[in-house]
Amino acid sequence: MNSVSASGNGAPEHLLRALPQLRTKLNLKVYLEIVRPGLEEVDRCIRHQVEAFDPGIVGYVEYAAESSGKRIRPALALLAGSATGRSRQDHVDLAVVVELIHLASLIHDDILDNAEIRRARPTVFSKWGADLSVLLGDCLFAHALRLCAALPVREVNRLIADAAYEVCAGEILQMQRRFDLKLGLTDYLKIIGMKTGALFRVACEAAAGLNEVPAHHAEALRIYGDHLGVAYQIYDDCLDLFGTEEHSGKTLGTDLKKGKFTLPLIHMLGQLEPGAVAGVSETILHGDEAERLGLLRQIIDAGGVRSSLRKANELLERAGRSLEVLPESAAREALASLPRALADHLATLET
Ligand code: FPP
Ligand code: MG
Repeated sequence: MNSVSASGNGAPEHLLRALPQLRTKLNLKVYLEIVRPGLEEVDRCIRHQVEAFDPGIVGYVEYAAESSGKRIRPALALLAGSATGRSRQDHVDLAVVVELIHLASLIHDDILDNAEIRRARPTVFSKWGADLSVLLGDCLFAHALRLCAALPVREVNRLIADAAYEVCAGEILQMQRRFDLKLGLTDYLKIIGMKTGALFRVACEAAAGLNEVPAHHAEALRIYGDHLGVAYQIYDDCLDLFGTEEHSGKTLGTDLKKGKFTLPLIHMLGQLEPGAVAGVSETILHGDEAERLGLLRQIIDAGGVRSSLRKANELLERAGRSLEVLPESAAREALASLPRALADHLATLET
Protein backbone atom coordinates (compact mmCIF):
# COMPACT_ATOMS: atom_id res chain seq x y z
CA MET A 1 0.00 0.00 0.00
CA ASN A 2 1.28 3.46 -0.77
CA SER A 3 1.98 6.27 1.58
CA VAL A 4 1.90 9.10 -0.91
CA SER A 5 -1.47 9.48 -2.54
CA ALA A 6 -4.55 11.01 -1.03
CA SER A 7 -5.73 7.55 -0.05
CA GLY A 8 -3.08 8.19 2.61
CA ASN A 9 -3.17 5.20 4.87
CA GLY A 10 -2.23 6.29 8.34
CA ALA A 11 -2.36 9.95 7.37
CA PRO A 12 -3.90 12.42 9.79
CA GLU A 13 -7.65 12.49 9.10
CA HIS A 14 -7.95 16.29 9.08
CA LEU A 15 -5.25 16.50 6.37
CA LEU A 16 -6.99 13.89 4.25
CA ARG A 17 -10.36 15.58 4.55
CA ALA A 18 -8.86 18.84 3.33
CA LEU A 19 -7.90 17.29 -0.02
CA PRO A 20 -10.22 16.79 -2.98
CA GLN A 21 -10.43 13.15 -4.00
CA LEU A 22 -11.61 11.19 -6.99
CA ARG A 23 -14.04 9.11 -4.98
CA THR A 24 -16.03 7.56 -7.81
CA LYS A 25 -15.12 5.03 -10.46
CA LEU A 26 -14.95 6.05 -14.09
CA ASN A 27 -17.76 3.90 -15.44
CA LEU A 28 -18.08 3.91 -19.23
CA LYS A 29 -20.43 0.92 -19.55
CA VAL A 30 -23.50 2.96 -20.40
CA TYR A 31 -21.65 4.72 -23.26
CA LEU A 32 -20.41 1.41 -24.63
CA GLU A 33 -23.79 -0.30 -24.67
CA ILE A 34 -23.91 -0.37 -28.49
CA VAL A 35 -20.72 -2.43 -28.64
CA ARG A 36 -21.58 -4.71 -25.69
CA PRO A 37 -22.05 -7.81 -27.91
CA GLY A 38 -18.76 -7.06 -29.68
CA LEU A 39 -16.96 -6.59 -26.35
CA GLU A 40 -18.38 -9.89 -25.09
CA GLU A 41 -16.99 -11.51 -28.23
CA VAL A 42 -13.60 -9.86 -27.53
CA ASP A 43 -13.69 -11.30 -23.98
CA ARG A 44 -14.56 -14.75 -25.37
CA CYS A 45 -11.69 -14.53 -27.87
CA ILE A 46 -9.23 -13.45 -25.17
CA ARG A 47 -10.31 -16.40 -22.99
CA HIS A 48 -9.98 -18.68 -26.04
CA GLN A 49 -6.41 -17.44 -26.68
CA VAL A 50 -5.35 -19.10 -23.46
CA GLU A 51 -5.40 -22.42 -25.33
CA ALA A 52 -2.60 -21.20 -27.59
CA PHE A 53 -0.13 -21.21 -24.69
CA ASP A 54 1.91 -24.11 -23.37
CA PRO A 55 -0.02 -26.02 -20.66
CA GLY A 56 2.78 -25.15 -18.24
CA ILE A 57 2.01 -21.44 -18.42
CA VAL A 58 -1.74 -21.45 -19.03
CA GLY A 59 -2.43 -20.76 -15.35
CA TYR A 60 -0.50 -17.49 -15.41
CA VAL A 61 -2.05 -16.42 -18.71
CA GLU A 62 -5.53 -17.18 -17.40
CA TYR A 63 -4.91 -15.09 -14.32
CA ALA A 64 -3.59 -12.16 -16.36
CA ALA A 65 -6.31 -12.33 -19.00
CA GLU A 66 -9.35 -12.92 -16.83
CA SER A 67 -9.03 -9.62 -14.99
CA SER A 68 -11.52 -7.53 -16.84
CA GLY A 69 -10.57 -3.86 -17.10
CA LYS A 70 -12.60 -1.11 -18.71
CA ARG A 71 -11.82 -2.49 -22.18
CA ILE A 72 -11.60 1.06 -23.56
CA ARG A 73 -9.14 0.21 -26.31
CA PRO A 74 -11.16 -2.75 -27.67
CA ALA A 75 -14.28 -0.58 -27.54
CA LEU A 76 -12.49 2.09 -29.58
CA ALA A 77 -11.50 -0.48 -32.20
CA LEU A 78 -15.08 -1.75 -32.52
CA LEU A 79 -16.67 1.71 -32.55
CA ALA A 80 -14.13 3.12 -35.00
CA GLY A 81 -14.84 0.11 -37.23
CA SER A 82 -18.59 0.79 -37.16
CA ALA A 83 -18.10 4.52 -37.61
CA THR A 84 -16.10 3.93 -40.81
CA GLY A 85 -18.23 1.25 -42.42
CA ARG A 86 -18.60 -2.06 -40.69
CA SER A 87 -17.25 -3.71 -37.59
CA ARG A 88 -16.45 -7.33 -38.52
CA GLN A 89 -14.47 -10.26 -37.13
CA ASP A 90 -11.25 -8.47 -38.18
CA HIS A 91 -12.16 -5.64 -35.81
CA VAL A 92 -12.74 -8.10 -32.98
CA ASP A 93 -9.30 -9.58 -33.74
CA LEU A 94 -7.76 -6.10 -33.79
CA ALA A 95 -9.45 -5.35 -30.46
CA VAL A 96 -7.97 -8.56 -28.99
CA VAL A 97 -4.48 -7.69 -30.28
CA VAL A 98 -4.60 -4.19 -28.80
CA GLU A 99 -5.95 -5.44 -25.47
CA LEU A 100 -3.28 -8.16 -25.21
CA ILE A 101 -0.54 -5.59 -25.85
CA HIS A 102 -2.14 -3.40 -23.20
CA LEU A 103 -2.28 -6.31 -20.72
CA ALA A 104 1.37 -7.16 -21.42
CA SER A 105 2.40 -3.55 -20.88
CA LEU A 106 0.54 -3.39 -17.54
CA ILE A 107 2.25 -6.55 -16.30
CA HIS A 108 5.59 -4.90 -17.05
CA ASP A 109 4.45 -1.55 -15.66
CA ASP A 110 3.52 -3.11 -12.33
CA ILE A 111 7.06 -4.41 -11.95
CA LEU A 112 8.49 -0.96 -12.66
CA ASP A 113 6.04 0.69 -10.25
CA ASN A 114 6.31 -1.99 -7.58
CA ALA A 115 2.52 -2.17 -7.68
CA GLU A 116 0.75 -4.78 -5.58
CA ILE A 117 -2.85 -4.28 -6.64
CA ARG A 118 -4.48 -3.77 -10.03
CA ARG A 119 -8.11 -4.22 -10.95
CA ALA A 120 -8.74 -4.96 -7.28
CA ARG A 121 -6.55 -8.09 -7.31
CA PRO A 122 -2.91 -8.87 -6.60
CA THR A 123 -0.75 -8.01 -9.60
CA VAL A 124 1.10 -10.76 -11.46
CA PHE A 125 4.23 -9.13 -10.02
CA SER A 126 3.08 -9.46 -6.42
CA LYS A 127 1.89 -13.05 -6.96
CA TRP A 128 4.86 -14.45 -8.87
CA GLY A 129 7.62 -11.83 -8.78
CA ALA A 130 9.51 -9.77 -11.34
CA ASP A 131 11.24 -12.57 -13.26
CA LEU A 132 8.05 -14.40 -14.10
CA SER A 133 6.23 -11.13 -14.81
CA VAL A 134 8.82 -9.97 -17.36
CA LEU A 135 8.52 -13.25 -19.22
CA LEU A 136 4.74 -13.48 -18.99
CA GLY A 137 4.42 -9.91 -20.35
CA ASP A 138 6.76 -10.92 -23.18
CA CYS A 139 4.69 -14.05 -23.92
CA LEU A 140 1.45 -12.09 -24.10
CA PHE A 141 3.09 -9.47 -26.28
CA ALA A 142 4.54 -12.11 -28.60
CA HIS A 143 1.16 -13.81 -28.82
CA ALA A 144 -0.46 -10.49 -29.72
CA LEU A 145 2.05 -10.23 -32.58
CA ARG A 146 1.09 -13.73 -33.78
CA LEU A 147 -2.54 -12.66 -33.96
CA CYS A 148 -1.59 -9.38 -35.58
CA ALA A 149 0.22 -11.23 -38.36
CA ALA A 150 -3.14 -12.79 -39.33
CA LEU A 151 -4.86 -9.41 -39.86
CA PRO A 152 -5.54 -8.93 -43.56
CA VAL A 153 -4.26 -5.39 -44.15
CA ARG A 154 -0.50 -4.99 -44.18
CA GLU A 155 -0.65 -1.32 -43.24
CA VAL A 156 -2.52 -2.30 -40.08
CA ASN A 157 0.33 -4.63 -39.06
CA ARG A 158 2.74 -1.73 -39.46
CA LEU A 159 0.56 0.61 -37.41
CA ILE A 160 0.44 -1.90 -34.55
CA ALA A 161 4.20 -2.48 -34.64
CA ASP A 162 4.74 1.30 -34.53
CA ALA A 163 2.36 1.68 -31.59
CA ALA A 164 4.04 -1.12 -29.60
CA TYR A 165 7.40 0.53 -30.23
CA GLU A 166 6.08 3.89 -29.04
CA VAL A 167 4.65 2.45 -25.82
CA CYS A 168 8.03 0.96 -24.91
CA ALA A 169 10.06 3.98 -26.04
CA GLY A 170 7.73 6.31 -24.09
CA GLU A 171 8.37 4.27 -20.94
CA ILE A 172 12.12 4.58 -21.48
CA LEU A 173 11.89 8.35 -21.93
CA GLN A 174 9.79 8.52 -18.77
CA MET A 175 12.39 6.50 -16.89
CA GLN A 176 15.22 8.72 -18.11
CA ARG A 177 13.44 11.78 -16.73
CA ARG A 178 12.72 10.38 -13.26
CA PHE A 179 13.19 12.97 -10.52
CA ASP A 180 13.97 15.57 -13.19
CA LEU A 181 12.65 18.83 -11.77
CA LYS A 182 13.10 20.41 -15.20
CA LEU A 183 10.61 18.13 -16.93
CA GLY A 184 8.22 20.51 -18.67
CA LEU A 185 4.76 20.30 -20.21
CA THR A 186 6.02 19.55 -23.74
CA ASP A 187 8.14 16.59 -22.67
CA TYR A 188 5.42 15.30 -20.34
CA LEU A 189 2.85 15.40 -23.15
CA LYS A 190 5.27 13.70 -25.51
CA ILE A 191 5.89 10.87 -23.02
CA ILE A 192 2.23 10.21 -22.23
CA GLY A 193 1.34 10.54 -25.92
CA MET A 194 3.73 7.66 -26.52
CA LYS A 195 3.08 5.42 -23.52
CA THR A 196 -0.71 5.79 -23.52
CA GLY A 197 -1.77 7.77 -26.58
CA ALA A 198 -0.21 5.23 -28.95
CA LEU A 199 -2.58 2.34 -28.14
CA PHE A 200 -5.66 4.57 -28.12
CA ARG A 201 -4.57 6.00 -31.49
CA VAL A 202 -3.86 2.67 -33.08
CA ALA A 203 -7.14 1.13 -31.90
CA CYS A 204 -8.97 3.88 -33.79
CA GLU A 205 -6.74 4.33 -36.82
CA ALA A 206 -6.17 0.62 -37.47
CA ALA A 207 -9.92 -0.03 -37.25
CA ALA A 208 -10.40 2.57 -39.98
CA GLY A 209 -7.49 0.97 -41.88
CA LEU A 210 -9.26 -2.40 -41.88
CA ASN A 211 -12.17 -0.71 -43.64
CA GLU A 212 -9.78 0.97 -46.09
CA VAL A 213 -11.48 4.34 -45.68
CA PRO A 214 -10.39 7.72 -47.12
CA ALA A 215 -7.17 8.98 -45.49
CA HIS A 216 -8.83 11.98 -43.85
CA HIS A 217 -11.28 9.73 -41.99
CA ALA A 218 -8.46 7.55 -40.66
CA GLU A 219 -6.56 10.70 -39.70
CA ALA A 220 -9.57 12.12 -37.84
CA LEU A 221 -9.82 8.91 -35.81
CA ARG A 222 -6.10 8.92 -35.15
CA ILE A 223 -6.35 12.45 -33.75
CA TYR A 224 -9.42 11.49 -31.72
CA GLY A 225 -7.60 8.48 -30.22
CA ASP A 226 -4.49 10.50 -29.52
CA HIS A 227 -6.31 13.32 -27.67
CA LEU A 228 -8.54 10.92 -25.77
CA GLY A 229 -5.55 8.79 -24.74
CA VAL A 230 -3.48 11.74 -23.57
CA ALA A 231 -6.43 13.18 -21.62
CA TYR A 232 -7.03 9.74 -20.14
CA GLN A 233 -3.43 9.58 -18.92
CA ILE A 234 -3.74 13.06 -17.38
CA TYR A 235 -6.80 11.72 -15.56
CA ASP A 236 -4.86 8.61 -14.52
CA ASP A 237 -2.02 10.81 -13.25
CA CYS A 238 -4.45 12.90 -11.18
CA LEU A 239 -5.90 9.63 -9.88
CA ASP A 240 -2.45 8.53 -8.75
CA LEU A 241 -2.16 11.67 -6.63
CA PHE A 242 -5.76 12.27 -5.57
CA GLY A 243 -7.57 8.99 -6.03
CA THR A 244 -8.37 6.33 -3.49
CA GLU A 245 -7.21 2.77 -3.78
CA GLU A 246 -10.69 1.66 -2.74
CA HIS A 247 -12.29 3.21 -5.84
CA SER A 248 -9.49 2.75 -8.36
CA GLY A 249 -8.72 -0.86 -7.39
CA LYS A 250 -5.00 -0.30 -7.89
CA THR A 251 -1.92 0.73 -5.98
CA LEU A 252 -1.68 4.52 -6.05
CA GLY A 253 0.97 7.03 -5.12
CA THR A 254 3.67 5.30 -7.14
CA ASP A 255 4.33 8.23 -9.46
CA LEU A 256 5.92 10.48 -6.84
CA LYS A 257 7.69 7.58 -5.18
CA LYS A 258 9.23 6.52 -8.47
CA GLY A 259 10.02 10.09 -9.49
CA LYS A 260 7.46 10.21 -12.30
CA PHE A 261 6.54 13.88 -12.30
CA THR A 262 3.09 14.43 -13.72
CA LEU A 263 1.10 17.45 -14.81
CA PRO A 264 -0.23 18.72 -11.44
CA LEU A 265 3.28 18.72 -9.98
CA ILE A 266 4.90 20.04 -13.16
CA HIS A 267 2.48 22.97 -13.08
CA MET A 268 3.30 23.70 -9.44
CA LEU A 269 7.05 23.49 -10.02
CA GLY A 270 6.63 26.04 -12.80
CA GLN A 271 5.07 28.49 -10.30
CA LEU A 272 7.78 28.19 -7.65
CA GLU A 273 10.58 30.61 -6.91
CA PRO A 274 13.86 28.83 -7.77
CA GLY A 275 14.82 28.72 -4.06
CA ALA A 276 11.70 26.73 -3.15
CA VAL A 277 12.31 23.84 -5.55
CA ALA A 278 14.87 22.15 -3.30
CA GLY A 279 12.27 21.88 -0.51
CA VAL A 280 9.83 20.10 -2.81
CA SER A 281 12.51 17.72 -3.95
CA GLU A 282 13.41 16.99 -0.30
CA THR A 283 9.74 16.21 0.50
CA ILE A 284 9.42 13.90 -2.49
CA LEU A 285 12.57 12.03 -1.58
CA HIS A 286 12.39 11.94 2.21
CA GLY A 287 9.14 13.52 3.39
CA ASP A 288 6.92 11.79 5.93
CA GLU A 289 3.22 11.22 5.36
CA ALA A 290 2.13 14.64 6.63
CA GLU A 291 4.76 16.43 4.52
CA ARG A 292 3.70 14.54 1.43
CA LEU A 293 0.07 15.42 2.02
CA GLY A 294 1.24 19.00 2.51
CA LEU A 295 2.83 18.78 -0.93
CA LEU A 296 -0.48 17.65 -2.44
CA ARG A 297 -2.14 20.67 -0.77
CA GLN A 298 0.59 22.90 -2.22
CA ILE A 299 -0.05 21.45 -5.69
CA ILE A 300 -3.74 22.28 -5.37
CA ASP A 301 -3.10 25.78 -4.03
CA ALA A 302 -0.73 26.47 -6.93
CA GLY A 303 -3.53 25.55 -9.37
CA GLY A 304 -1.90 22.25 -10.39
CA VAL A 305 -5.16 20.32 -10.43
CA ARG A 306 -7.14 23.13 -12.08
CA SER A 307 -4.62 23.53 -14.87
CA SER A 308 -4.36 19.76 -15.42
CA LEU A 309 -8.12 19.56 -15.75
CA ARG A 310 -8.07 22.50 -18.14
CA LYS A 311 -5.50 20.74 -20.33
CA ALA A 312 -7.44 17.48 -20.24
CA ASN A 313 -10.69 19.25 -21.11
CA GLU A 314 -9.06 21.08 -24.01
CA LEU A 315 -7.86 17.74 -25.42
CA LEU A 316 -11.24 16.11 -24.86
CA GLU A 317 -12.99 18.90 -26.72
CA ARG A 318 -10.56 18.56 -29.61
CA ALA A 319 -11.11 14.79 -29.61
CA GLY A 320 -14.87 15.32 -29.93
CA ARG A 321 -14.48 17.91 -32.69
CA SER A 322 -12.17 15.71 -34.75
CA LEU A 323 -15.04 13.26 -35.29
CA GLU A 324 -17.12 15.81 -37.16
CA VAL A 325 -15.70 14.82 -40.58
CA LEU A 326 -17.11 11.31 -40.19
CA PRO A 327 -20.63 10.53 -41.40
CA GLU A 328 -23.24 10.66 -38.65
CA SER A 329 -23.90 7.30 -37.03
CA ALA A 330 -24.69 5.74 -33.68
CA ALA A 331 -21.06 4.60 -33.44
CA ARG A 332 -19.79 8.14 -34.06
CA GLU A 333 -22.14 9.36 -31.33
CA ALA A 334 -20.84 6.70 -28.92
CA LEU A 335 -17.26 7.74 -29.70
CA ALA A 336 -18.20 11.37 -29.08
CA SER A 337 -19.77 10.48 -25.74
CA LEU A 338 -16.49 9.11 -24.32
CA PRO A 339 -14.59 12.42 -24.07
CA ARG A 340 -17.72 14.01 -22.59
CA ALA A 341 -17.97 11.22 -20.00
CA LEU A 342 -14.32 11.62 -19.04
CA ALA A 343 -14.73 15.41 -18.77
CA ASP A 344 -17.77 14.94 -16.50
CA HIS A 345 -15.86 12.51 -14.34
CA LEU A 346 -12.87 14.84 -14.08
CA ALA A 347 -15.15 17.67 -13.00
CA THR A 348 -15.71 15.78 -9.73
CA LEU A 349 -12.09 16.64 -8.84
CA GLU A 350 -12.70 20.37 -9.39
CA THR A 351 -11.29 22.33 -6.46
C1 FPP B 1 0.65 2.58 -17.26
O1 FPP B 1 1.22 3.74 -16.73
C2 FPP B 1 1.60 1.95 -18.26
C3 FPP B 1 1.65 2.21 -19.57
C4 FPP B 1 0.73 3.16 -20.20
C5 FPP B 1 2.63 1.56 -20.48
C6 FPP B 1 3.63 0.62 -19.83
C7 FPP B 1 4.58 0.06 -20.84
C8 FPP B 1 5.68 -0.65 -20.55
C9 FPP B 1 6.07 -0.96 -19.13
C10 FPP B 1 6.56 -1.16 -21.64
C11 FPP B 1 6.29 -2.61 -21.96
C12 FPP B 1 5.40 -2.66 -23.12
C13 FPP B 1 4.99 -3.78 -23.80
C14 FPP B 1 4.26 -3.59 -25.06
C15 FPP B 1 5.24 -5.16 -23.37
P1 FPP B 1 0.95 4.23 -15.26
O2 FPP B 1 1.91 3.58 -14.33
O3 FPP B 1 0.97 5.70 -15.30
O4 FPP B 1 -0.54 3.74 -14.99
P2 FPP B 1 -1.15 2.85 -13.82
O5 FPP B 1 -1.56 3.84 -12.77
O6 FPP B 1 -2.34 2.16 -14.42
O7 FPP B 1 -0.11 1.92 -13.34
MG1 MG C 1 1.80 2.00 -13.08
